[in-house]
Amino acid sequence: MNIPSRVKLVEVGPRDGLQNEKQAVPAAVKIALVHLLQDAGLTEIEVTSFVSPKWVPQMADNAEVMAGIARQAGVRYSVLTPNMQGFLAAAPTRPDEVVVFGAASEAFSQKNINCSIAESIERFRPVVLAAKAAGMAVRGAMSCTVGCPYEGEIAPQRVAYLAGLMKDIGVDHVGVADTIGVGTPRKVQRALEATLQHYDIDHISGHYHDTYGQALANTLASLELGVWNFDTSVAGLGGCPYAKGATGNVATEDVVYLLHGMGIETGIDLDKLIDAGKFISDALGRKSLSRAANALLAKRLG
Ligand code: HMG
Ligand code: MG
Repeated sequence: MNIPSRVKLVEVGPRDGLQNEKQAVPAAVKIALVHLLQDAGLTEIEVTSFVSPKWVPQMADNAEVMAGIARQAGVRYSVLTPNMQGFLAAAPTRPDEVVVFGAASEAFSQKNINCSIAESIERFRPVVLAAKAAGMAVRGAMSCTVGCPYEGEIAPQRVAYLAGLMKDIGVDHVGVADTIGVGTPRKVQRALEATLQHYDIDHISGHYHDTYGQALANTLASLELGVWNFDTSVAGLGGCPYAKGATGNVATEDVVYLLHGMGIETGIDLDKLIDAGKFISDALGRKSLSRAANALLAKRLG
């Protein structure tokens, strides 16, 4: 086992978390959340997405949110850009990184971004070129690497195929997403191993939704392969509007509790992170989905 001694978390709560909210979340709340997350030591924050406001109205305030953030040195702010239209809207807001997002499943690609896998790659290609020319980093998200809400189980070869396409167009780093949280440790390891055919371990992250309660186990299984980058969502917020019933990403607080308990460094202050989770949970009027945060909050109350 080559369990890493240090892990980097990309906080996706403001984007993946809030894109699926039924209620409107004011831009000011999103901005305050980003500030609390960076205060807690998160150095990578996925802030918003530049997608169609007809498809995802929750992210229509993308430029306002990006403009409202008091940027902290050493923090990388990323945004989703599925096509050139999204990139051109995002660029003036000065993201440090853009994320193109494809799927290992054809049906999910159609439902989520309205095109086939092959077409999506052609849309991403100029985005990657333009982003690099502007000095931005480029990450690729790969959805449905274990299971798809429309096609069922996804074979690792299809993950390898998508990873190869991402690599060909110059994507620096890919996230292996279990979009609907159906994965279990061995299946997730197979999806990671398929990705390792094209990307080295330093350029792969795990992105696990916790719908079936497997995300922490899948995180541990990924650590065992040496994966040291993960996307997580404060308070376990989120889900994808095009994956019905899928709940949020694994809670950042739970992952930090796991990692610190194993002696793995994250640079994150768990107490401050819990404050960030409490802030957004209170703003949304519901209890956090993080078991660790709820336990530690109860302890604070004595
Ligand atoms: P399309 O219909 O194929 O695009 O949508 P189009 O180029 O044909 O344009 C149609 C209309 O969309 C036009 O507007 C364009 O202006 C507009 P109209 O003339 O009808 O008024 N449009 C845009 N508007 C704003 N920003 C843009 C943009 N592009 C076109 N970038 C598109 C393609 C991708 C835009 C659409 O399908 C879409 O917005 N989908 C939403 C995708 C999304 O946000 N999904 C959730 C995020 S992915 C996710 O959560 C998974 C992840 O977490 C990993 C995991 O867990 O699996 C990353
Ligand atoms: Mg996701």
